[in-house]
Amino acid sequence: MTDKKARLALEGKDPIDLPIHSGTLGPDVVDVSPLLANGLFTYDPGFVATAACESRITFIDGDKGVLLHRGYPIEQLAEQSDHLETCYLLLNGELPNARQKAEFAERITRHTMVHDQITTFFKGFRRDAHPMAIMCGVVGALSAFYHDSLDINDPRHRETSAIRLIAKMPTLAAMTYKYSIGQPFMYPRNDLNYAENFLYMMFGTPCEEFKVNPVLARAMDRIFLLHADHEQNASTSTVRLSGSTGANPFACISAGIAALWGPSHGGANEAVLNMLEEIGDVSRIPEFVNRAKDKNDPFRLMGFGHRVYKNFDPRAKVMKQAADEVLSELGLENDPLLKIAKELERIALEDPYFIEKKLYPNVDFYSGIILKAIGIPTSMFTVIFALGRTPGWIAHWNEMISNPYKIGRPRQLYTGPVRRDFQPLDQRS
Ligand code: SDX
Repeated sequence: MTDKKARLALEGKDPIDLPIHSGTLGPDVVDVSPLLANGLFTYDPGFVATAACESRITFIDGDKGVLLHRGYPIEQLAEQSDHLETCYLLLNGELPNARQKAEFAERITRHTMVHDQITTFFKGFRRDAHPMAIMCGVVGALSAFYHDSLDINDPRHRETSAIRLIAKMPTLAAMTYKYSIGQPFMYPRNDLNYAENFLYMMFGTPCEEFKVNPVLARAMDRIFLLHADHEQNASTSTVRLSGSTGANPFACISAGIAALWGPSHGGANEAVLNMLEEIGDVSRIPEFVNRAKDKNDPFRLMGFGHRVYKNFDPRAKVMKQAADEVLSELGLENDPLLKIAKELERIALEDPYFIEKKLYPNVDFYSGIILKAIGIPTSMFTVIFALGRTPGWIAHWNEMISNPYKIGRPRQLYTGPVRRDFQPLDQRS
């Protein structure tokens, strides 16, 4: 913290000195807590310019298209690391050594099964229930199986919950898919790595041996990794706010899943595929670009734009490269949706509207094309996002709980009726 300060001059009042704090990277912040003693609130709908907390986990420079996890650039992690190692990094602050990495992977493997009564829970859903609706339910329901070993103030309990959540999300995600197609659930296998196990549980059946394609497993792992964390986005902020009440981590992650579902957030990857299919042909791209620019048309180019990035989302660049690799591995280089996506990106990036508003492809623009090529249905895309984001949610929840924190309780600018007396029914016009 520094001793810099801002002075707020108010008409007819003494000026208010507001401390300014500097981080290791990024803009300084003005500490506005002294305002309350002077009868004032700040006003920042959507928290566009509000730092809600101090954090050491992830840093984004939106103007430069930089994303760091505990200081490591996302491009290097995507190229040289894997999802579980990145989970360890997010949770513990440092990359694991060989022993730590092996122990962490082994602990995850030992927690991939879910309580068998969870399968009964699934039977309460319609087969055509949206997988995210099921995930909100079953992840929250994990609280019912672990409430007895859950002292959030005990670091060992917090670590066990983290392991359980990271380990069980792929199992639960695959179960939502199997349930939707009426196939039996596949139990996780301890001889497969994290991404291989997920693809096995998704596409394997008890009827025959299932060999996981290593190229697809690598692409799946990279998709998980690229979604692992992203500062105080809407779903992570939801997890933090839920956790600030002392709610158990399973309930907090379930709240994060619900927030992620929206098409402006994690639901965008599903919306991108639906949009590309609606466009249908490169000849119709100008029509949709014009709709996206039309103030009277609620249509937005899904997968474009970002609250923080005003440059390329670095994850989108890696995702685009992964899309090329997967589609060529599968002999789908001429995939019509990929062609539409690439042409749409080219046209949009040359369009003055998108240039002026600094709208670039984000993480969701290419991920769906890879997932579709792997054989994952569009309705499962946001579930994959939630699976990848779980370590980030937990790392932020743990960072908050393991440091002094207060219950989150924003204030408001009230513009409703002033005090008035109740009117009995017979006196109302
Ligand atoms: C994620 O926060 C995170 O970090 C999220 C995320 C993560 O990893 O957690 O990165 C994941 O959610 C990525 C974003 C996925 N969503 C989409 O792709 C949906 C399409 N994008 C837009 O809905 C929008 O860009 C948002 C919601 C992502 C960001 O919206 P903002 O920051 O609130 O910006 P805005 O809506 O105020 O837009 C600024 C201007 C507006 O025009 P004006 O009112 O200034 O004239 O840009 C326009 C918008 O109309 N605009 C778009 C647009 N996105 C913004 N116009 C057309 N198409 C778009 N996609």
